[in-house]
Amino acid sequence: KMDSHTISIYDQLMELLLKAINKAYPDVVDPPVIITLSNNSKFGDYQCNSAMPLSKLLASKGTKVSPRDVANKIVENIAESPIIEKLEIAGPGFINIFLKREFALNILMSLLKAGKVSPPSVKKQRIVVDFSSPNVAKEMHVGHLRSTIIGDSISRLLEYLGHDVLRLSHLGDWGTQFGMLIAHLQDKFPNYLVTSPPISDLQSFYKESKKRFDEDEAFKKRAYDCVVKLQSHEPDIMKAWHLICDVSRKEFEKIYERLDIKVIDRGESFYQKYMEQIIKELDEKNLLEEDEGRKIMWGDKKDVGIPLTIIKSDGGFTYDTSDMACIQHRINVEKSDWIIYVTDAGQSMHFQLIESCAKRAGILTDKQKLSHVPFGVVLGEDKKKFKTRSGDTIKLVELLDEGLNRALNKLKEKGRDKELTEEELNAAKEAIAYGCIKYADLSHNRNHEYIFSFDKMLDDKGNTAVYLLYTLTRIRSIARIANLTPEQIKAAVETTSISLEHEKEWKLAKVLLKFPDVLLKIMKDLYLHPLCEYCYEISCAFSEFYDNCYCVEKNKNGETIKVNMGRILLIEATAIIFEQCFDILGIKTVNRM
Ligand code: ARG
Repeated sequence: KMDSHTISIYDQLMELLLKAINKAYPDVVDPPVIITLSNNSKFGDYQCNSAMPLSKLLASKGTKVSPRDVANKIVENIAESPIIEKLEIAGPGFINIFLKREFALNILMSLLKAGKVSPPSVKKQRIVVDFSSPNVAKEMHVGHLRSTIIGDSISRLLEYLGHDVLRLSHLGDWGTQFGMLIAHLQDKFPNYLVTSPPISDLQSFYKESKKRFDEDEAFKKRAYDCVVKLQSHEPDIMKAWHLICDVSRKEFEKIYERLDIKVIDRGESFYQKYMEQIIKELDEKNLLEEDEGRKIMWGDKKDVGIPLTIIKSDGGFTYDTSDMACIQHRINVEKSDWIIYVTDAGQSMHFQLIESCAKRAGILTDKQKLSHVPFGVVLGEDKKKFKTRSGDTIKLVELLDEGLNRALNKLKEKGRDKELTEEELNAAKEAIAYGCIKYADLSHNRNHEYIFSFDKMLDDKGNTAVYLLYTLTRIRSIARIANLTPEQIKAAVETTSISLEHEKEWKLAKVLLKFPDVLLKIMKDLYLHPLCEYCYEISCAFSEFYDNCYCVEKNKNGETIKVNMGRILLIEATAIIFEQCFDILGIKTVNRM
């Protein structure tokens, strides 16, 4: 009987083999269970490579058994299972595992009946994903774009797996830079308390005020006064602060809307009221040290690292202070089991410190987990820091606009503008532009720096979003070609069985069965590029299948003479899993492009 979760083959095999090994060698505690996907179907679909290390382990305890004999003994002890067709021992002692088609069939048929693919079963957790987190009054830059894309996809994955996810953007919306911004606002828009100032370009506003701050002593002094007033929450100054934050927020919102990103703003300012409290606690626990007028806190590696600055010599709080208050809030108030921070790799040290200080302070215990998800810098095609020709930071809105233009040109080059309706063309343009920007980011190992190249990401060959989106439209067009309505396909699920006889059908099916295992692995290490590789694998396996297996036969007049319904169902199952992958990657799909 199938439960509502999609079965992880890997987990099932691990369990079966552990049991077999325990039975064969009851004296070995914690035996090594090593299972890998086989890369050649001649040697099975999965492989167990436990015999070699086990034989060594036994030898070290004085029992000499060859790995092949160990393998034999394991195989003898494997219980009857609906998953396994047969087992073979190869070479020095590899156990080759062949999956049963019947089992695959059951999984795929129940997915078709449900009309969706259910996630594998996991223990539900409360998870905070801290991502995007741009800074107010500074342009949201490509680094924040990476954090936004990666963080959104991680959140989507965890939500799909059934976790309770809180998506938070830790905005840089508090700090001394607000002094000069507010002082400048007062001069430029003296009426700001009555009518909202029409600031359209906050970045130039920031530059103007910075210039005055650097050149004009009197202005500088006023800026400092404003900081003090802001910290004591003086109403007029708070109003100015709100205005400035709102302008920024609206800019960020536009980006989120275009990229279909959901995230709650909860910036540094939110933790103002919690900072005094945490400082008091740290002080009471004697965790703070004086250092040239500042108060610092060390992590557990005092000799190698740097400390957190909890109170500056002028009495002000820092980014460190807010992160300590923040982690406490997320654990005590938000009750999270797992906190994930998505920022550039430059902040790795900061989060290591936050983790070890939070542990020292007893905030973070073994009940919770903290993960920093770092990523490399974005480079331009010249392999230098990604900038405009004039050396300014690239504005995200302009980057997205350029993506749209290029996607449209690409479609026009192929003459698609003549085939698609205006609505379809627009949808295709957006799916391609935003999809390719996201996919280019997610498909690279996030630890590496990444070269932003529209030409590469818009290529329709290779592992790109465009290629995958085309494959999906091809998949979807098949039912259209066969003149089948969704209702007819649904009805067929009750009467027909997926066909898995042909070698290429079976190969595609096995790729589909890996879906839960791909996701479970990502949940462990939070690397998303294997999901992209998996999408590419689906595409390739599908193409091989489609090139080799007739699904719809037409006569010379273009009339359908034969439809292989079993294959149509396999295609349908492929589409369901493929689309679920796109959804986790945050990529919108289209029916035609
Ligand atoms: N605003 C920061 C930046 O732009 C990122 C904040 C990340 N989150 C955190 N809790 N510190 O670098």
